Formats: sequence, structure tokens, C-alpha cells
Amino acid sequence: MSSKGLPFLGEFELGAAFPMATFRAPRGVQDILPQSAPVWVRLQSTARAICERYGFAFIETPTFEEAALFVRGVGAETDIVQKEMYTFEDRGGVQLTLRPEFTAGIMRAYIEHGMHTWPQPVKLYSLGPAFRYERPQAGRFRQFHQFNVEAIGEQDPLVDAEVILLMWRYLQELGFDRLSLQLNSIGCPACRPPYVEALKSYYSGLRTSLCPDCQERLHRNPLRLLDCKAAACRALLQEAPRSVDFLCPSCASHFQELRLLLEAAELPYELNPRLVRGLDYYTKTVFEIWAEGIGAQNAVCGGGRYDGLAEALGFRPTPGVGAAAGLERLLMLLQCHEQAERPSAPLAVFIPLAGPARPLSLKLAEELRLAGLPAQCTYGNRSLKAQLKSADRLGAQYAIILGEDELAHGRATVRCLGRSEQVQVPLAQLVDWLQEQAAVPAGERAVQ
Ligand code: HAM
Repeated sequence: MSSKGLPFLGEFELGAAFPMATFRAPRGVQDILPQSAPVWVRLQSTARAICERYGFAFIETPTFEEAALFVRGVGAETDIVQKEMYTFEDRGGVQLTLRPEFTAGIMRAYIEHGMHTWPQPVKLYSLGPAFRYERPQAGRFRQFHQFNVEAIGEQDPLVDAEVILLMWRYLQELGFDRLSLQLNSIGCPACRPPYVEALKSYYSGLRTSLCPDCQERLHRNPLRLLDCKAAACRALLQEAPRSVDFLCPSCASHFQELRLLLEAAELPYELNPRLVRGLDYYTKTVFEIWAEGIGAQNAVCGGGRYDGLAEALGFRPTPGVGAAAGLERLLMLLQCHEQAERPSAPLAVFIPLAGPARPLSLKLAEELRLAGLPAQCTYGNRSLKAQLKSADRLGAQYAIILGEDELAHGRATVRCLGRSEQVQVPLAQLVDWLQEQAAVPAGERAVQ
């Protein structure tokens, strides 16, 4: 077979030996290694538990969708669509995109599966990877994971408040305390055009003072001028018009009620007139939750209302509100605060020294595991000393030595690794004995 038709194989023929190469993960993506796994799993299990409490059901949507979904949903003028999407043509000639975010795909699923006929709002959550071709830096990756929630089919600001509360509680439950909720309203298609005009006329007089990107944005997407990080542009922000001053009566009362609800829930927020977000589907409420301690990429969660998204996808007007938290950023923060966790240290490590002890080790380890206790075996024909060292490295409480002598007498030598004491335990009673030890606090365990 040749590499014809498989351009990614380049000069290599299938079947020919590949040169020895050391592969590294592609730029901007990372492995979540076992030492991070307990925190990583907790980020997900806490998300699931909190969604249960707030009445959000799990939905899994595909990792890739038709490219046009994001162009129409996220917005043709956004950085995401202009510069960051991983788009490819499949073998059938269809343009597909690895999802850069979840909302457009979930709205697609809502429409496709007739969820508008379900009781509204339909409240959904997801956990999974998203992909953006961004400039990698601490906290910014090309593949990252989101905990995403959406409530579709209801315009009541109470839903906005609940989505914000859900995310806030999620972060609190993970142990974050230095958080700040940034809140703004960017209006709707009725009140945004006059605001955008006011922004344009403010900035057009200052055009030459803007950074080159913002000179371009002034035509394409003037709202994005507000969250430019360049020093020159930041200096001009102070006097820039604020969207909250242009809200129509409906947007103004929505925002007012949301603020009252957050105050009643005692959730402190900061009004941030510069918060505009990078996705075009937002209407009315936009918010971010910022965390201290992870540098420039401090937005651990972002979201808002998107009452125009369903229509942009060709469906009837359907309100929605949602948010997503970035799991890598949370992992970074938690790892700053916590010691890297290890998987549970085994209660017992079985060391089979004689051939027939090997199946017995496996059987006894299985019995302990079935009883819910962590147990491991050592492997290979290494010396007792080397195997005891392995057991110690695993952090085991007990090494269970099974040699010829032990098998002949129907017992095991149990060595308490912390104290270098040992005792003989009849094989028939070993599992019960270990279970009893596990029930006693570690410091009080007896080797007898
Ligand atoms: P977003 O602000 O683009 O919103 O992303 C949400 C969160 O994902 C960010 O606050 C950040 O924590 C994380 N994140 C985004 N990009 C990266 C990256 N390159 N590397 C690491 N983490 C990242 C959305 O995606 C909206 N779909 C949220 C939403 C749901 N709005 C309504 N419903």
C-alpha cells in the first residue's frame, strides 16, 4: 500500500520503517497526568453534583459540527471564527469544525430534537474538550475542557441569576474564595445599534491612537474595542460610552431585575461596562467570574444570554442563557493551592515469592478490592528486598509476603511497612484481618 491520497504521510510509505523520532504533544495541548487526575476528576464530579441540584440534565454533543454552524452561531466577525477554528474537509467534501465552544452545538441539538416541545426551559450541561487555535500561554490552550451549562426557552432573569449562582457555587465548592463576578448588559438588536454608533463616533476621532487591531475592529466589530488589552487602547476606555446607558426599557428592566435577584441571593458583583465577551450571540446579560492567582488568563468562567441564537440558526426566536468554566484554568489554580494528590495508597501489596503464590496473590488482592479496599501486587521475579521497596514506594500499609515456607504452613507474613514489624496471619483469615485493620485509624493499627 502506498501513501498516495494520504498527504499527511508525506514522504513515508505505509509499511516502511518510520525514522526513530521523539514525539511531543502538539503545541498548545497537554496531557493530564495521573498526579493531576484526582483534582481533574473532582472538577467533573463536583460539576455533575451541582447540576443535579439545579436541575440540569447531561447532554453529550459531537466534538465536531458543520463549520457553518459556528460561522452563523458564534458570528463571522469574531476572532474565534476568523482566526481560531480547526476546520477541515472530510472525505465526503463536508466542511467540519472541531467545536470551539458548546453553545452553538447544543442549540443545534435543541432544534434538531424538537426540544422546544419539552417543558421549558430545557436545562442542559456538558463536560468535554473544545478547540481554538490561539496563541498558547499559561492558562490558554488549543485544546481545553469546559464545564458548560445552558438553559434554553425562558427569558426570565431568574434563569440568568440561577446560571450565575450555579457557576459561583461550583467554584465555591471546589474551594475558591478569591472570586469576583463581573457583570454587564450589552442590550439587544433594538438598543445595540445606537450604542455601537456612539462607540464608533467616540473612537473615530481617536483612530490614530488605537492599536492596529482595534483600527481594524472599529469597522468589523466595534464592541471588541472595549476589551482590548493594548495599553494605548486601555487609556481611551475611561471616557468611552457604556452599553448600560443605551439599554431599551425591556433590556433595562431585565438587567435591573437580575441585579436585584443577585443582591437578594447575597452574591456580590461588580458592574463592568467594558465586559463585552468574544462571541456575537450574546444579548442582554453578559458575565465572567475572575479568580486571583493564575495570571493574565484569570477568567475561569464566562457566559450570558443569547436570545438571538436560535433565529441565527434558522429557528423561531427562542431565548437562552448559559455559561462555561475552563477546567484547565481551575486545575492550575487548585494545584497552586493543594499538594499534588496521588491515587489512594494501597492498604496491602502482595509479594509472591514462589510460583504457586502468584495466582494466590491475585485472588487475595481481588477479594480485598471487591471489599472496596485498595490492593496491589508486585510483578516479575525480583528479590524480596526490591519488592518491599516497591511496596514502600506505593505508600502501602502492609506488605503481604507469600513464599514457599508461608504456603507450606498456610499463612502469610504480613509486614507493617511504617514500623518494620511483622506477624504471621493464617491465609484463611488474611482478608478479614486486613479489613479489620482498615477499619482502625491508621495511627492505631496493631500488627497482631
Ligand atoms: P468563553 O468565555 O469563550 O465562553 O469560554 C468560557 C471559559 O472557557 C473561559 O472563561 C475560560 O475559562 C475557558 N477557556 C476559553 N478559551 C480557553 C483556552 N483557549 N484555553 C483554556 N481555557 C479556555 C464560551 O465558550 C461560551 N460558549 C460560554 C457560554 C455558554 N455562554 C453561554 N453559554
